[in-house]
Amino acid sequence: MEELTSLSEEQTIQIGEQLGASLAPGSVISLQGSLGAGKTTLVKGIARSLGITEPVTSPSFTIIQQYLGSVPLYHMDLYRIDSMEEFDLLGAEEYLYDKGITVIEWGEKISSMLPSSAVCITCRIEPDQTRTITIGAAP
Ligand SMILES: Nc1ncnc2c1ncn2[C@@H]1O[C@H](COP(=O)(O)OP(=O)(O)OP(=O)(O)O)[C@@H](O)[C@H]1O
Ligand SMILES: [Mg+2]
Repeated sequence: MEELTSLSEEQTIQIGEQLGASLAPGSVISLQGSLGAGKTTLVKGIARSLGITEPVTSPSFTIIQQYLGSVPLYHMDLYRIDSMEEFDLLGAEEYLYDKGITVIEWGEKISSMLPSSAVCITCRIEPDQTRTITIGAAP
């Protein structure tokens, strides 16, 4: 488990970039943390590490957004998903076993479906508004 402090949005992007550079194709990342904690910001950094220049936005309504980088990036936002059945009906499970890199905001909603190799990351807002990013947190 690794705990990092981020003092700014750009620093969180940089943490995401370093993380992204260390990921093998096929990796699954589950991002946990409250609204505005920095999950999407972290994904922006992962996208940057894969050479993606397209802007990364929150796929709350589309649920899954795909970006073509050196490795495909699948970005999911499960905020609006209420059950694993709903996730299943979207046909989203196949992305967990794809050769791309899959990053899932609110991944705890499908924790029992995550592959055991998934890396769980928690973003926490501190009282002083800095962010604590824990890599390798419990699912
Ligand atoms: N250290 C920091 N790291 C990341 N974001 C920060 C930081 N400090 C302030 N912010 C601000 O917090 C917000 C984080 O938004 P972001 O969309 O990344 O959150 P999120 O966890 O994806 O939220 P949601 O659950 O709504 O998807 C941005 O507006 C950003 O400018
Ligand atoms: Mg988000």
